[in-house]
Amino acid sequence: MDALPLYRQLAAHYQQAIERGTLAPGSRMPSLRALMDRHDVSLSTALQSCRYLERDGYLEARPRSGYFVRLPGKPVCQPVAEPSTRLADPARYVGIQERVTSIIAQGKQFPVRFNLAAASGSPELYPTEALKQAMIRSLRNDPSVLTSSAQPLGSAVLRGVLAQRALSARIALSRDDIIVTNGCIEALNLALRAVAQAGDVIAVESPTYYGLLQILEAQGMKALEIPTSAQNGISVEALELAAQTYRNIKAVVAVPNFQNPLGAVMPDDSKARLVAWCEANAIPLIEDDTYSLLGSTDTPLSALKAWDRTGNVIHCASLHKTLAPGMRLGWISAGRWHERVAQLKHALSRAQEVLPQLAVADFMGSGAYERYLRRLRLALRDQREQMIEAVATYFPAGTRLTPPQGGLILWAELPGGASAERLFERAMCEGIAIAPGPMFSNSDRFDACVRLSCGLPYTRELNAAMRTLGRLAADLDG
Ligand SMILES: Cc1ncc(COP(=O)(O)O)c(C=O)c1O
Repeated sequence: MDALPLYRQLAAHYQQAIERGTLAPGSRMPSLRALMDRHDVSLSTALQSCRYLERDGYLEARPRSGYFVRLPGKPVCQPVAEPSTRLADPARYVGIQERVTSIIAQGKQFPVRFNLAAASGSPELYPTEALKQAMIRSLRNDPSVLTSSAQPLGSAVLRGVLAQRALSARIALSRDDIIVTNGCIEALNLALRAVAQAGDVIAVESPTYYGLLQILEAQGMKALEIPTSAQNGISVEALELAAQTYRNIKAVVAVPNFQNPLGAVMPDDSKARLVAWCEANAIPLIEDDTYSLLGSTDTPLSALKAWDRTGNVIHCASLHKTLAPGMRLGWISAGRWHERVAQLKHALSRAQEVLPQLAVADFMGSGAYERYLRRLRLALRDQREQMIEAVATYFPAGTRLTPPQGGLILWAELPGGASAERLFERAMCEGIAIAPGPMFSNSDRFDACVRLSCGLPYTRELNAAMRTLGRLAADLDG
C-alpha cells in the first residue's frame, strides 16, 4: 500500500489526538504557523491537513480566529457574533443594583433544584478532606493563632506560597508585594478606591461581571463599557477609540483569562498591548484573575501583570473558584499603589483570619495541590463539554455560543431577540436558576443572553433540566 501523503499523515496524527481527548472539543487547534514549525511541513501541507480534518468534522474554522477542535457528529452552535469596536454607549453612572436585587429576589420565591446561575463549582469538586486535615494540622502546630493578633498584610507563609505560585503566570513578586483579602471582591474594591473616586469614569468590559458593576455603583463611579469579544476579550482598539472621546478614564478593569461572562482569553499580544497602552496613558490597569487556573489544559496562562514593568497593573486574585469557596480568600498585588491599598485594607476591614490562611498555605505548598488542580480541570472540562452539547442539542436553532476553553460558565445568545428575563422567570418555576444577560451590563444590549454555570456534575437529572430549559427557550422564540 502506498504511504499516505504527508498532509494525511499529519491529519491522522491530530485526529487521534482529538479522539483521545488530548485536544479537547472547543479548544483552539495549533495555528498553521505552529504546525509548520512543529512538524517541519510547508504552509500548504499544514493547511491541507486542517481542511481535511474540517471536512471530516474534527475541526471547525472560525472567521479571523483559526481552527477549533470538535468531535464529528456532535451538534454545535454558531459562535456569538463579534462586537463592533465602535463605542456603543457613553460613560454612565451604574444602575444595576435594583436589577440584580430584583432578579435575586424573584429567584428566592421558588425552590432551586438546579443552580445554573452561580459561577461556582459544586462542593464535590473541591478538596474538602485535604483542607480539613490541613486546618487541623495548622491549629495543632500553633493554637496561638486563635488568640494572637493577625499580621496586617496576611500570613507571611501564605503570601510566600502565593508569590511562588504566581511564577507560573509569569508574575515575579515577593511576598511583601502581596496583601491577603476577603476574596477578589475586596481586592477589586480596594483597587478602585486606591486609584479613583466617586464621579470618575472606569472602563470595563461589556458584558462584564455584575459584581464589578455593583462595586462601581456602590462607590458612585461611572462605567464606560468597552466592546469585548467572546474570542479575544476586551477590544484594545475600542478602548483606544473610547479614550479619544473620554479623556478622563481613571482606570481600566479587565478579566484577561476566562472572562466572566464570555469565557474569553485575551491573546498574549493583546495583553501586552493593553498593558503598554495603559502605561503610556498613565491609566491604572486593574486585572481580575479569578479563573486563570481553570483551563482545559495544564498549560499556564499569562497574567497582564507579566508585562508590567512600572507597577501600573494592580493584580487581584481569588482562591474562591479554584480551591475553597467557603474560605473567602483572595489577594492583591497593587504595584505602585501597594502602600495606599494596605492603608485602605486596614481602615476598611483589618487583617484576614489567620487559621484558614495557614491551612490553605499548607495545602497549596504541597504536591497534592497540583494533582488536585489537574483533577479539577478535567472534571470541569467534561462538565463544560456536556453543557455545551446540551445547549446545542436542546436549545432552539439559531442559539449562539462560543465554547470557552476554560472557566465555570457558558454564555449563550437566544435567537430572534428572545427575552432572557422571561426565560429566567419561566425556568424558576421549574426550579432551574439561570443568570439573565441584563445583569451583566448597564445597557440593554444583552437582553437575549443567558449565563449558565458548568459547576454542577452533569447527571441524568441535569440533562433533563437542560432539556426543559431548551424547550422553554424554544417557546419564547415563537
Ligand atoms: C470575574 C470575577 N471577579 C471577582 C469575583 C468575586 O470573587 P470572590 O468570590 O473571590 O470575591 C467573581 C465571582 O464570581 C468573578 O466572576
